Formats: sequence, structure tokens, C-alpha cells
Amino acid sequence: MSLTGKHILSSDLFTRDDLERLFELADVLTPVARGRKVTRVLEGAVMASLFFEASTRTRLSCESAFLRLGGGVTTTTGVELLSIAKGESLADTSRVVSGYCDLVVMRHPDEAAVHEFADATHVPVVNGGNGAGEHPTQALLDMFTMHREFHRLGRDIDGARIAMVGDLRHGRTVHSLIKLLSRYDKLTLVCVSPDSLGMPAPLLELAASRGHHVEVSDRPEAGLRDADLVYATRLQTERFADLPVPYSDEFRIDRALVDRVCRPDTVIMHPLPRDSRPAANDLGTDLNTDPRLAIFRQTDAGIPIRMALFASVLGVADAIRPSLRPATWYRPDFTG
Ligand code: CP
Repeated sequence: MSLTGKHILSSDLFTRDDLERLFELADVLTPVARGRKVTRVLEGAVMASLFFEASTRTRLSCESAFLRLGGGVTTTTGVELLSIAKGESLADTSRVVSGYCDLVVMRHPDEAAVHEFADATHVPVVNGGNGAGEHPTQALLDMFTMHREFHRLGRDIDGARIAMVGDLRHGRTVHSLIKLLSRYDKLTLVCVSPDSLGMPAPLLELAASRGHHVEVSDRPEAGLRDADLVYATRLQTERFADLPVPYSDEFRIDRALVDRVCRPDTVIMHPLPRDSRPAANDLGTDLNTDPRLAIFRQTDAGIPIRMALFASVLGVADAIRPSLRPATWYRPDFTG
């Protein structure tokens, strides 16, 4: 399916063919993302990034991706710096901004806002995270990372055992991710969380309806055992109206747990940020030197896959290969 001109609000949109085309284009664009090659296929195009909620990775990597394609970026963060603070509606803001740019990336704490915004605009809108709803570009980079990691290890995603662990109720990245995983074949999907933070039932049902074996567990020790891939998530404290629910130590994904229950070739991912406060029981920093930890390969993958998405949505995907030329500036090479 052509992605040209489409709003990217949910990962529902992507077929497996779309994913494979985007991965192929992202591979071509990786030297551009790493400052080795240059393209100007989006010269003259403008992206507006509207972030009504905190972000490091999504905002900066979307902006870098657009700039690396030769486009320009206009950006604003926080409601207080927009005329919404003076009572302007989201619909009016949307119509106005669509006159200033060719594509919008938007993050908002309210799940419905990105849909309201997209209904009122004339340009494609990319959902950069809507409350506890979805985060489709994160899921694209997660699948692209998984595709690369499994290829490196000589394995297929089809048939894999994948454990998602943590706050699966409020974590928007896993909501988008399980939809993309469901496009593959014969997976075992293990959803590991405290009972009150479980994966929403409709998403479990979707995966089961597509022929996957779905397991639900509140025991990380058992749920992570023998996984091909562990996808850890942070407790989304910003989504709780009251105090955070207790989150026991057994949910800390650290070296001791990984060594006890995972294999030497298990891939460990996390969308980040990880909560580094001691009580958070998030992904441990003692895994930082463990080659199984793919989190920075994952963040690096965010640039080429978002470039591939923007090029596809703005109809220049086929122009990329002939446009590439060498970069001339110095940049050290590194990869997580
Ligand atoms: N993974 C992710 O969405 O990170 P940010 O909140 O920093 O954008």
C-alpha cells in the first residue's frame, strides 16, 4: 500500500509488505543517518514538530531525520508557548499550522487529540505518542531493530518467543508494537506485568486472532525464560492519577535476572527513557556492557527508519537511491 499522503496515527496502518519496504529503505538511508552520505530529496519541505509532552528521542530524531533528508523544521514544545494557552482550539491550531508546513509530528497527552488534529489539517500528521494510546514510529524503529538483531544472529522473527515486560497497560510503545508483531507468523508473545498493569484485552485478542500463541504472566522469572527477545518498559508514572502502584523488585531487568533466565543470544530492548531512580525497578544499568542489550542500537535505528517513513509519506522514496552522494565532513563512526 502506498503511504504517500497518509496520516500515521496507528501502527494498524502498516502491512508486512510496508514494513519490509521501509526496512529496505532504512538500510539504504543508514549511511545518511550516520553522516557518511547526503541526500536533499526533501529540499524545500518543512516539518512542524508540536510536542505537548516531554520527549528527547522522538522529537529530536524526527527533526534530525527530516533535516538529513534536506528538509527544514519548525518546532514548539509545551502548551504554554502556543496560542492554545489563550483559548485557541486544537482544530484551529491544526488548520493554521497546516498552512506553514508539509508534515506535522505531534505528541499529546490526550489520546484523542492527535485524531482531532489530523481531522482539521491539510497535511499528513504523524503520531509521536498520544497519551497511553500508541506510538507508531517507535514501533517501526523497534521492529527495524528486531529485524537487524535477528538477521545478525541468523534467526527469523517468524516463530520467535518475545516477552514484553513492565507497564503494558499504560505503555503506548507496546500497544503499537504488538500490532506490528501480529503481522508476523506463529509468534509466542508473553506479556509479563503485574495484574493491574496488563496488556489491554483487545490487543491480546488481536494477536490471538492472527494465530499467535499469547501467554500472560505476572512472574518475570518464568515469563522471560528462553525468550528470543525481551522488550522491557518503564512504569508510566505520569499516567497514574494517584500514587504509583507497588512494583516489586522482581520486575527489575538486571544482569542477575538476565543471566539466570535468558540465553546468551537473547536480545534485550527498551524504548527508553529508562527510569534510573533506585525505586523504579526499570532496566538496570549493570547490563550496559552486555552485548545482548540493544537499546542504543535501537535509538540509532530511529533516524533511518523515520527518514524512510517521511520519504514515503511525502512521495520521494523512489528518488532516494539516485540522490545519494558522499558526505564531506568529519564524523566518528559508532554503533551501540
Ligand atoms: N521512546 C520515546 O518515545 O522517547 P521520548 O519520550 O524521549 O521521545
